Amino acid sequence: MMRAAQKRGHAVFVALQENIFWHKDVAAHATRLSLADNDEDWYRAHETITEPLKAFSAVLMRKDPPFDMEYVSSTWLLSEAERQGAKVFNSPRALRDHNEKFSISEFSRFTVPSLVAREMGELQKFIDEHKTTVLKRLDGMGGTGIFVVRHDDPNRNSIVETVSALGTRSVMAQRYIPEIREGDKRVLLIDGKIVPHCLARIPKAGESRGNLAAGARGVAQPVSARHREIAEALGPMLAGRGLLLVGLVVIGDWLTEINVTSPTCFREIHDQTGFDVAAMFLDALERRLA
Ligand SMILES: Nc1ncnc2c1ncn2[C@@H]1O[C@H](COP(=O)(O)OP(=O)(O)OP(=O)(O)O)[C@@H](O)[C@H]1O
Ligand SMILES: [Mg+2]
Repeated sequence: MMRAAQKRGHAVFVALQENIFWHKDVAAHATRLSLADNDEDWYRAHETITEPLKAFSAVLMRKDPPFDMEYVSSTWLLSEAERQGAKVFNSPRALRDHNEKFSISEFSRFTVPSLVAREMGELQKFIDEHKTTVLKRLDGMGGTGIFVVRHDDPNRNSIVETVSALGTRSVMAQRYIPEIREGDKRVLLIDGKIVPHCLARIPKAGESRGNLAAGARGVAQPVSARHREIAEALGPMLAGRGLLLVGLVVIGDWLTEINVTSPTCFREIHDQTGFDVAAMFLDALERRLA
């Protein structure tokens, strides 16, 4: 993304969460980077400037989960920056409102049976009914804190206690989708439009999670008719809320997650298909700023 911006003549600056502050203006200590082609040694840092965020053409918020209180604080600052005239993507309000796991609830016609609860009894009832179940924390990424549990698993109670921290943390329970064997499909939406290739993330042998961070293999594939159907229903709504970049996760025919914090897979798709996802993103961004 940064390389694509540089290629078009944009100056690229980077600020971490701790480099953003409010004192009348919402401003940042931002360091200018130049990007190299070398993936091992990929940038040079230049001068650091202190400027209001509204002085930049656009601010791209990209922070991985955990979605914790510091994350929320950053979105408060970015919302105020927006009020002052900064152009922030994804929209800080949408980032706050839109939990990556729970937000599938709005689109339940595309999901398998799912539950979000804190009470362990509710989670247990769901497992009794649906047998093999996936339990996930609401605030994670990269497959952390995700369990597959069978109704007759000898560790079932312990898993429920662990993932819900003894009923003090909200958990999503979801019916297990066996098509995960063929991988989960990361389908990207850029300003509501589907990227024509998805990335199938195929779990490594003996692993149930299709996250690249959990050793899965990423294979680019054309998007399917079902992917287009889901994308056409969600795309315009999500784009209308200021979600310029969204990473849907589809397993088999079913939507399992809507990633908005820092969707990836641009590189894998570009390298394997030649389709320049970052250029599509920059086109959409420049259109929003025009
Ligand atoms: N309902 C399900 N059925 C089968 N496997 C599932 C299901 N839900 C999640 N998984 C497995 O867990 C993995 C991670 O799930 P999910 O994408 O929801 O979480 P994540 O940690 O936020 O991932 P990411 O960082 O890629 O957004 C999936 O790749 C898949 O292997
Ligand atoms: Mg996620």
